[in-house]
Amino acid sequence: MFKYIFRIFLLFFLFTATSFAEDSISVETRACLSCHRIVTPGIVKDWEASVHSKTTLKEALNKNSLSKKVSTNSTLAKDDIVIGCAECHTANSELHKDTFEHNGFKVHIVVSPKDCAICHSKEVEEYNKNLMAEAYGNLKDNPLYAKLIKSSLEPSPNTLSENDACLACHGTKVEVKDKVVKNTMLGEMEFPLLSGWPNNGVGRINPDGSKGACTSCHPRHSFSIEIARKPYTCSQCHKGPDVPAYKVYVVSKHGNIFYSEEKNINFKNTPLKAGEDFRVPTCATCHVSLIVDSNNNVIIERSHQMNDRLAWRIFGLIYAHPHPKDSYTAKIKNKKGLSLPTELTGEFVKEFLISKRGMKKRENKMKKICISCHSTSWTENFFSKFHNTIKTTNEQTLEATKILLKAWEKSVAEPSNPFDETIEKMWVEQWLFYANSVRFASAMGGADYGVFEKGRWYLNKNIQNMKEWLMFLLKTKEVKN
Ligand code: HEC
Ligand code: HEC
Ligand code: HEC
Ligand code: HEC
Ligand code: HEC
Ligand code: HEC
Ligand code: HEC
Ligand code: HEC
Repeated sequence: MFKYIFRIFLLFFLFTATSFAEDSISVETRACLSCHRIVTPGIVKDWEASVHSKTTLKEALNKNSLSKKVSTNSTLAKDDIVIGCAECHTANSELHKDTFEHNGFKVHIVVSPKDCAICHSKEVEEYNKNLMAEAYGNLKDNPLYAKLIKSSLEPSPNTLSENDACLACHGTKVEVKDKVVKNTMLGEMEFPLLSGWPNNGVGRINPDGSKGACTSCHPRHSFSIEIARKPYTCSQCHKGPDVPAYKVYVVSKHGNIFYSEEKNINFKNTPLKAGEDFRVPTCATCHVSLIVDSNNNVIIERSHQMNDRLAWRIFGLIYAHPHPKDSYTAKIKNKKGLSLPTELTGEFVKEFLISKRGMKKRENKMKKICISCHSTSWTENFFSKFHNTIKTTNEQTLEATKILLKAWEKSVAEPSNPFDETIEKMWVEQWLFYANSVRFASAMGGADYGVFEKGRWYLNKNIQNMKEWLMFLLKTKEVKN
């Protein structure tokens, strides 16, 4: 009995001692910590290791502009305290459908980009212009892609299987379904019951109506810049045969050196100095990071928009095409009324896509990064090769499409769902797997993925197979008639 009382006393002493020592933690957050050190110790440890637990908004706002990580002077945020549990989980509580009464606080579970925007408005604004923020609607609002989902999953996919498949990466819709009383370590408490959760897909629709999950690259509760700068983070979604960016990077020269030298790369400094902090680029370097030279001159600004360095959309829909002007792609319509940025015969649906001038501007931004380590001629030759690849892979997509159009015309395949018959699936693989693979290899340097590993060999072989399969279908029809 004495031992038991002693233990409780000791625990009480430890909590109060640690809390009162940390003046810069708000009273509200101290209350959260007193229970959450027991109920969710991992979350508290992650938070303690993060810069949020160590930096007050005031300190952060005083940093010089290149290393400043907060972009708001909002009066919403108290500036003399560190960013604790309460600062995130009770912010904007009236906007959140998942807000619940929790031990005297109005807490919400899904801290959203809108909450982060209180202090990081620049990142959130940029991210909202990114394809990733629209990834849910781009898939779910496009009637053509609904057919692709159906032909990829079971014949009538239910919400749970969609959430487990396409929406695992693209993002789910998180909704409050009910309230439930649970028996916790500290007695009975009531919590909201969420559907479409957990999920950290990039275009997730949150209970406050905002889009995206910053946790897809900055997992909670370390919210670390270091994790986001490493290629492993992107591998979660950019890996499959349709989107092989990570696989291509792993076997590229940049990837080889990264994996050998990882321990010598500085992932913590802001801004990153080319040549000093890093000598080979990672995904983040080429697509997101602020990079400066040794005199702190800016080589390229940071951007969470990410497409402002991308001239081409090399992910063929169904051909590689200039980048869309607006990231909500479901509103694009081609001449046939399909929500695609290209016609089936390869012409671009220009009114929805950026201009040649816009493309040049974006490509020049990307080239600036290369030129921080390579010569101009190395860089120019690289891009000539890349442009040639776009041309040849689009040509081979057209050749496969002509075979499919013939099958439709001769009524040996039926176009209402263009993804569900054998010859149609062969066609899908032509642009979705093989043409994409060749282009990703050409853009980011993994030669095998451009040749024998789902590359040019398959582009050729597939055309042959499609031709022979069409002949077989035509002959079968002849015999039947
Ligand atoms: C009296 C103790 C206590 C206090 C104070 C407390 N919590 Fe909790 N909290 C709990 C317990 C217990 C759970 C349930 C853990 C579980 O599901 O096993 C919980 C769960 C949660 C959840 C997850 C809910 C879910 O359904 O997934 C969040 C988010 C949360 N708390 C945030 C906070 C925040 C923020 C504060 C401070 C403003 C706070 N809590 C204060 C005890 C407390
Ligand atoms: C910088 C903002 C921020 C801070 C600070 C923060 N959280 Fe969170 N928390 C989040 C985000 C974002 C999520 C992920 C929500 C989702 O699923 O999208 C989350 C999720 C959670 C969850 C549910 C996740 C799970 O695995 O069950 C709990 C519980 C929680 N936080 C508790 C805490 C506690 C306790 C603290 C303080 C030690 C804290 N949070 C500090 C932003 C924050
Ligand atoms: C109330 C203000 C506030 C809110 C809300 C907030 N942050 Fe922060 N954030 C900060 C401060 C302060 C820093 C530290 C800046 C520094 O060290 O200069 C920071 C730093 C960061 C960093 C850099 C981490 C590193 O390793 O250098 C990331 C990433 C980040 N926050 C993401 C988020 C995300 C995601 C959310 C929402 C889930 C969020 N923050 C919510 C104030 C906030
Ligand atoms: C492992 C993660 C992941 C899964 C699972 C996934 N996708 Fe994607 N999807 C991506 C990525 C990454 C991109 C962007 C590729 C790029 O730009 O290189 C993308 C882009 C797309 C696009 C282009 C949308 C547009 O208009 O920009 C479509 C269509 C698509 N995916 C369909 C699907 C379908 C259908 C499923 C389920 C059968 C699915 N995806 C499952 C990661 C995923
Ligand atoms: C949780 C999944 C996920 C993670 C993690 C992820 N992405 Fe994405 N990314 C996507 C999806 C899905 C799309 C395509 C959305 C669409 O087309 O509608 C995409 C699109 C992109 C695009 C095209 C953006 C545009 O607007 O053109 C780039 C570039 C990109 N991702 C780079 C990265 C990098 C770099 C990382 C790692 C730092 C990363 N992604 C991490 C899922 C993810
Ligand atoms: C696709 C991956 C990805 C997503 C999603 C993402 N970030 Fe980032 N974020 C990064 C990368 C990579 C960096 C490092 C940039 C650099 O090196 O300059 C970064 C850096 C940051 C920083 C530190 C900036 C600085 O000045 O050092 C903040 C703050 C931040 N992100 C906030 C957010 C918020 C808020 C969201 C959600 C709207 C978000 N991020 C979503 C990849 C991502
Ligand atoms: C050396 C710089 C570099 C590195 C490193 C790099 N990329 Fe790229 N990435 C490019 C270039 C160049 C393009 C094509 C530019 C264009 O489309 O105009 C590209 C295209 C992409 C696209 C295609 C977007 C679209 O619209 O179709 C995605 C997604 C992408 N990269 C993700 C990644 C990921 C994930 C990694 C790390 C595993 C990575 N990149 C590493 C330079 C790089
Ligand atoms: C931070 C420095 C850095 C940046 C930025 C960078 N590279 Fe590299 N790159 C290297 C290094 C180092 C090598 C290895 C050179 C060698 O093989 O001797 C390399 C190798 C390459 C190779 C491999 C050549 C071969 O024959 O295997 C290509 C291609 C390449 N880079 C293209 C690019 C392009 C295109 C960009 C911009 C989109 C870029 N690099 C950005 C440092 C960089």
